[in-house]
Amino acid sequence: MTARREVSPGTVQETLLIPLYGRAVENRKPEPALHDPRAEEIVAAIDYDFTRFDGLPSLVGSVLRTALFDHWVSEFLTGSPEGTVVELGAGLNTRHERIDNGRARWFELDLPDVADLRRSFFADTARRTSIAASVTDLSWAETIAAGSTGPYFFAAEAVLPFLTEDDVRGVVDGIAERFPGSLLALDTAGPGIVGAQDEHDALSKVEARMRWACAGPADVAAWLPGTEVLASCTIAALPSPLRDRLPGPYQEMLSGLARQRLPQVEEYRLGLLRLP
Ligand SMILES: C[S@@+](CC[C@H](N)C(=O)[O-])C[C@H]1O[C@@H](n2cnc3c(N)ncnc32)[C@H](O)[C@@H]1O
Repeated sequence: MTARREVSPGTVQETLLIPLYGRAVENRKPEPALHDPRAEEIVAAIDYDFTRFDGLPSLVGSVLRTALFDHWVSEFLTGSPEGTVVELGAGLNTRHERIDNGRARWFELDLPDVADLRRSFFADTARRTSIAASVTDLSWAETIAAGSTGPYFFAAEAVLPFLTEDDVRGVVDGIAERFPGSLLALDTAGPGIVGAQDEHDALSKVEARMRWACAGPADVAAWLPGTEVLASCTIAALPSPLRDRLPGPYQEMLSGLARQRLPQVEEYRLGLLRLP
């Protein structure tokens, strides 16, 4: 029997288990927001007590966030079928399995131990490359520039809030400088969320903490003149093409959530930027 893989508790890397488990649990539902059989296989192969996350609202939130990022990447690939998708802080995300079109170029970057873990589940191919690096060490940009032609879509899903604001600025500046005109999808957590994260349903179960508080994607756009905010929304107000595709119970749940205007929902924003 193959030994189950471990993820060190107490590290920022541990946070990848939350969206991974969210997608695995979602896949078991009769009417899922997304299908992800690979996530279920990976959860079964990791030695970790995932039950600590059972029943947490954040699991559903992470699934809806992933569905939105999938939607944005799919739209990008419709317009640029041979474009390049770069996952920053990829964790054990399975976006490639869910929406690859057979023609695009993919790079999946994470810290060295996570890249090593990824390699035990996903093989590199001529179109898919794993990069072991910190997103803050911009030498990764050269690997990508050397191995692709673009246009580029950078997906930073649930990673930037764990950096300092200076580091986030460095990453955004670096992408804009090296890949002008590229798209960047990101999420932002407002000061209320970052301040109350010890009580957050999922983060309170791990040691990693968010360090960057930001009111929304428009604030990031304001750092770099010429940046366009193509989309900015909360989980409760997903764009209609995606929302209309979700199972009925999800649509009802989101309408209720939008009416409640909970600070932890309203202050957590998802954005799509076009960098100058
Ligand atoms: C909450 S997980 C999200 C994973 C993935 N994007 C997803 O949605 O499933 C955060 C990820 O960011 C990665 N991460 C944190 N700091 C990083 C850094 N400085 N450089 C690269 N990756 C980082 C962690 O290792 C982890 O995989």
